[in-house]
Amino acid sequence: MTAPGKVTLFGEHAVVYGQPAIVASIDKRVHVFAEPKPDGTITIEARDLRVPGVIVTYKEGEVTVETEYGLVLPAISYLNKAIEIASKYLGSRHGVKLVVRSEMPVGAGLGTSAAVAVATIAAYAYSGGYELSMDEIARLGWEVERAVQGVASPMDTSITTYGGFMKIEYSGDRVKRESLNVSGDLPIVIAYVEREFKTRDMVLMVRERLSKYPQLYGKIIELIGEVARAAEKALVRHDLHELGLLMNLNHGLLDSLGVSTRKLNEVVYAARSSGALGAKLTGAGGGGCVIALSQPEKLETVETVMKFLSDFTMKTSLGSEGIKVKTEKGG
Ligand code: PMV
Repeated sequence: MTAPGKVTLFGEHAVVYGQPAIVASIDKRVHVFAEPKPDGTITIEARDLRVPGVIVTYKEGEVTVETEYGLVLPAISYLNKAIEIASKYLGSRHGVKLVVRSEMPVGAGLGTSAAVAVATIAAYAYSGGYELSMDEIARLGWEVERAVQGVASPMDTSITTYGGFMKIEYSGDRVKRESLNVSGDLPIVIAYVEREFKTRDMVLMVRERLSKYPQLYGKIIELIGEVARAAEKALVRHDLHELGLLMNLNHGLLDSLGVSTRKLNEVVYAARSSGALGAKLTGAGGGGCVIALSQPEKLETVETVMKFLSDFTMKTSLGSEGIKVKTEKGG
């Protein structure tokens, strides 16, 4: 199975308070291969998952970890939980060897943990002879993210399951997903700067400010929702100039919420002055990723300038396919 990473184009943070967010899949993917094991053991081989190579075997509650690094278990907790939740849902547990590969860095805010969760659920079910629907995969994937992280929105698990472009709103357990019909390419550069704060810290900080100054921060949250609604229309019209303007507006609002950093702002401003139509932080902030929508002919320049101020960059096209069956291990 293979599932894509994602970027949040509009609406992060405000989505937690019931506003719409616009997310898109990217062309970098996570691959999970599952081979049934008749002896009933479960083996996980996780390459590229933050640690250079891990082999974990567990049988009857006993875990063996083969690696030179200590912090392995957190990296595989998504896989572990995905197997637990999938086998409980299917009502049967079978042995399997899972091999995981990632084309993108883990923990950068590109939705790798959701892609791992969703692809593992689908691969595990498939290797046991079951085929789950997209709705089932997305729902179980969200369960995995909530179980591992404590709090998680359904954004990442939804977009990695369905792919494409999506408007998403949720409140409690109720999730409203709308696939958006976007034609034409959006030239995007993603840059990563080291994270200073975790998603959880950023979400809690916004919550505290909102409860202390509801009149002020509440208006910012509402405005972010308005920007996302306008962006939905601009996306469908493929109006790149308006999208750029709305990205800049969204970034300004995120900055006023307090989730941007000096480094993120530097990358955002450098991207804009080198030919991007718009640039914003994406995800929770406090470090992490910036996305820039480039004028098509300025793509190389925009990437070079962003690379200079960040840890790494990648060009990506948006809207790739969601989860799909892939049977060979190559790629
Ligand atoms: O940093 P990420 O990719 O986990 O994004 C977090 C997005 C928030 O809206 C800030 C939180 C959420 O759960 O939606």
